[in-house]
Amino acid sequence: MASVKFLVGSTYGNAQQVAEDAADQFEALGHQVKVISRPSIDDVLSEETDIFVLCAATIGEGEIPDNLLPFYQQLRDSLPTLAHLKYGVIALGDSSYDNFADGGRQINELMIELQAKQVQEMLIIDACETPDPEEAVTEWMGLLHQKI
Ligand SMILES: Cc1cc2nc3c(=O)[nH]c(=O)nc-3n(C[C@H](O)[C@H](O)[C@H](O)COP(=O)(O)O)c2cc1C
Repeated sequence: MASVKFLVGSTYGNAQQVAEDAADQFEALGHQVKVISRPSIDDVLSEETDIFVLCAATIGEGEIPDNLLPFYQQLRDSLPTLAHLKYGVIALGDSSYDNFADGGRQINELMIELQAKQVQEMLIIDACETPDPEEAVTEWMGLLHQKI
């Protein structure tokens, strides 16, 4: 059993819903889960969590949603080493916008820069093509489950 935290960046609720559904799925597999809607840097600096799933939509012109922005900026400002941290990113966006899924991409790039270990390649959900992301998320979480 692993301890899994879902850190959410959501304006209109889609990413929040994806995180909650994914957490339910992981809980049913026997993992200990927590969904955090307003994450802070303290959530990732402690070593008590085995894996983080960053579930981030994009808002504005390629921006990170307001509820995830303090977390991003705190990390950006202090640049801690996150080599102890395993993570995956689910990025929600809409390819009809320029800067497609840039919120999740920015988070992922920062995690790489801070040396966190990406255990599963980023899942990008395009609202244009996948209005109901449940199947894609279930498949991705299944792959993640095999790696922890
Ligand atoms: C005002 C607004 C701006 C958006 N800007 C972008 C964008 O720049 N890039 C992108 O990929 N998606 C963009 N989107 C699409 C959202 O990321 C997408 O609808 C997502 O599912 C919303 O997730 P949320 O409900 O968790 O906020 C935008 C949506 C809105 C309503």
